[in-house]
Amino acid sequence: MKALKLRATGRAFAPEPIPSQTLSNLLWAAWGINRPAEGKRTAPSARNRQEIDLRVVRADGTFLYDAAGNRLLPVAAGDHRALAGVQPFVKDAPLTLLLVADTSRMKGAVTDPAQRQWIWADASFISQNIYLVCASEGLATGVRALLDRSALGKALGLSERHVILLAQCVGRPAPSGPNGTK
Ligand SMILES: Cc1cc2nc3c(=O)[nH]c(=O)nc-3n(C[C@H](O)[C@H](O)[C@H](O)COP(=O)(O)O)c2cc1C
Repeated sequence: MKALKLRATGRAFAPEPIPSQTLSNLLWAAWGINRPAEGKRTAPSARNRQEIDLRVVRADGTFLYDAAGNRLLPVAAGDHRALAGVQPFVKDAPLTLLLVADTSRMKGAVTDPAQRQWIWADASFISQNIYLVCASEGLATGVRALLDRSALGKALGLSERHVILLAQCVGRPAPSGPNGTK
């Protein structure tokens, strides 16, 4: 109840990195495996396709969250935080989580426009998990759909089968700062 009460979109971030254990907990809660025997996860996905992957865009590179191994795998070198959004506050946050669908896991849905929309529903559950963990940890976060997907996808080496759905900055809230709405 407290986390739901505190859930809000933040748009002002302090630059310091968040502790690695906090990030590990956040990734597990967002989209980790909570039933190892079945390989099922903390968020539902249509037909259990699990087509979404989380990428962590940080100053020291971009990493893929490997839920099975509970680890981060480096996927792109360099600091791409400024490309992870079009709003000025984005580059200030220590990290952006990207929710990226791999449409090769969509099986028959690729040709069915209605089922294709389900990737957005799947992404929303993950996003809300992130919101609630951030609320409970005193972290700021805000989901974003406004992105230059083409530039970001190119910088991160994504292919045509990947769809960048949503981005979500995470960090300590800035001591003071603008927090307007979009
Ligand atoms: C699908 C979706 C896309 C959004 N895209 C952006 C965005 O690109 N930039 C932004 O600042 N906020 C974005 N938001 C956040 C909304 O503006 C925010 O949720 C809304 O103003 C309500 O505020 P609250 O989350 O604090 O309740 C988005 C929210 C959703 C659900």
